[in-house]
Amino acid sequence: MKKRISRAGSCLERSSIRLFFEKQCRIAATCDDVISFTIGEPDFITPPNIRQACIDAINAGKTKYAPNAGLTELKQAVSRSVKKIYGRDYDAETEIVITNSGMDSLRLTFAAILDEGDEVLMGDPAWANHPNHPVLAGGVSVRVPLYEENNFTYRIEDLEKALTPRTKAILLNYPNNPTGAVLRYEDLVKICDFAKEHDLYVISDDAYYRIIFDNEKYWSPVMLEGMKERTLILQTFSKTYAMTGWRLGYIAGPADLIEAIGKINENSCSCVNTMVQWAGIEALEGKDTPAEVEAMVREFQHRRDIVFDMINKIPGLSCAKPRGAFYAFINIKETGIKSADFSNHLLEKYHVGMTPGTGFGASGEGYVRMSYATSTDKIIEGINRIAAFVKEETKNND
Ligand SMILES: Cc1ncc(COP(=O)(O)O)c(C=O)c1O
Repeated sequence: MKKRISRAGSCLERSSIRLFFEKQCRIAATCDDVISFTIGEPDFITPPNIRQACIDAINAGKTKYAPNAGLTELKQAVSRSVKKIYGRDYDAETEIVITNSGMDSLRLTFAAILDEGDEVLMGDPAWANHPNHPVLAGGVSVRVPLYEENNFTYRIEDLEKALTPRTKAILLNYPNNPTGAVLRYEDLVKICDFAKEHDLYVISDDAYYRIIFDNEKYWSPVMLEGMKERTLILQTFSKTYAMTGWRLGYIAGPADLIEAIGKINENSCSCVNTMVQWAGIEALEGKDTPAEVEAMVREFQHRRDIVFDMINKIPGLSCAKPRGAFYAFINIKETGIKSADFSNHLLEKYHVGMTPGTGFGASGEGYVRMSYATSTDKIIEGINRIAAFVKEETKNND
């Protein structure tokens, strides 16, 4: 019999975030006190002006196919938005393509740049789906350890060690999922110099670029000289505008790559939902949007403060201050409990769901990820339960 399932179909890893979420849902089906810190999804609903724009588009009959690479009006709005965020000019017609989400942006990007066996450097820990994407495109994900004491950013010596003649690209994701780290300018410069020296693409997954705290400046590779031609910016509307269910994103990058991505897109989804693209224009340019986004970011920062204070008061736990996104990567090493056991027992005994750090790579052992995109009441109640759990589990420790 012929081999039934392809390499990608058989060796893709299920996301442990999803696996854990599913386990949590099974428990939640039988009891109503489960608190979820698993899924990385804003608890806010999409702002009203954006919802209304979609309804208006449907009522105006904007229900037909859109161009493969996206509506011209949306690409122009993206071009203006990119100029504001990154300070760079991107031509709406040749350097921007609209996608079906950040996940889709990753798929299209690696399909466009990788040949069989090409390697992509990425962090360990990294968001659970990142390592799968190069594999889907026939490539290889090469993990580079990230350390808490190094702000969960690459050390150049580790990048050098991971480099081979097949290395094609390096993946950046800051603000970071799962660690909440934000890239500092001096680290960005070193990583970009490394990319230039070894002629690598930089894939910048900017899903959380807007969720950044304490007025810290957001740095992107394209802000540095000589980087625009080797960088692909991957964006999603999911997190910034609380639009996870809409499935809308974009890629900005060099024209030859954007053209290749457009061709791949034509042969998969053809184009993104037309009415959703009209909602995307409102998200980027609606007069009510900035205040809505600002309020959400302020609320995330408030929750971050609560999480940071409460977790660091629990004996045996510690947590570096998250500087962006909505995740805390909690260090549980002092408890002596393995990450998977911590998450499993916490869920089974105390009905609190958190993803084990090992779900983000081997370097995640000794950590659990908490998504604090939920109400302050639930955060406080959940952390109180975590404190009780840790006390119970470590009562026989010296
Ligand atoms: C780092 C990162 N990139 C991309 C995505 C994909 O987001 P979406 O597919 O909703 O646009 C996520 C979602 O959690 C993420 O955390």
